[in-house]
Amino acid sequence: MRTHLSTCYGLLFNTLPLASPLSRLTMTRSNTSKPKDKIQQLLHSDPYGGWDKCWEKGVTPWDLGQPTPILVHLHQTGTLPKGRSLVPGCGSGHDVVAIASPERFVVGLDVSENAIRQATKLSSSSKSAENFVFLEADFFSWRPTQLFDLIFDYTFFCAIEPEMRSRWASRIRDLLKPDGELITLIFPGREKLGRWKRSICKSLL
Ligand SMILES: C[S@@+](CC[C@H](N)C(=O)[O-])C[C@H]1O[C@@H](n2cnc3c(N)ncnc32)[C@H](O)[C@@H]1O
Repeated sequence: MRTHLSTCYGLLFNTLPLASPLSRLTMTRSNTSKPKDKIQQLLHSDPYGGWDKCWEKGVTPWDLGQPTPILVHLHQTGTLPKGRSLVPGCGSGHDVVAIASPERFVVGLDVSENAIRQATKLSSSSKSAENFVFLEADFFSWRPTQLFDLIFDYTFFCAIEPEMRSRWASRIRDLLKPDGELITLIFPGREKLGRWKRSICKSLL
């Protein structure tokens, strides 16, 4: 498995929603990040349906409203593996649609019914509709029948509880073909977060 751990700037820092060390850090420093507070509230009010509530209420500040620029670049430069791709925690599905092609079938997976509904609606007139599918399922229990050549994770890993990181790594390993590629944008781009980055690396190794 080849892995690209990348740095994701700006928006991601403000939207890291959960009880990660990072969110605790930002909570104690400042309480002005309103969308993050709302997300925290929704997730804590309902550990199972919190994400769905975020989507239902439109509290989705992480949503770029377009595909992740670096992913588009990799796609356009022919750098992405062909075959089967998975986008876990796909949200409104822009990344799924952006990289779907006759050579690459993409599965967009999200635990939120409302996210999947939104993704399905937004992509309904896409010309490459036969090259992708959206599924409502929990990444940690979902068992596909075929493995993937590429997994693209944008702000999914960083959204899960720190206790789930090693399960995330095991699932990624189990879902990828032996020569499959993982591309993940998980690190907020702030110098002071070096310790947090190191803790993530440690928990994944
Ligand atoms: C921070 S959002 C990122 C969404 C999307 N990748 C984007 O960039 O717009 C995290 C997403 O992961 C989804 N999610 C959270 N836990 C999940 C799980 N166990 N299985 C599948 N999706 C999950 C949430 O519903 C949410 O859409």
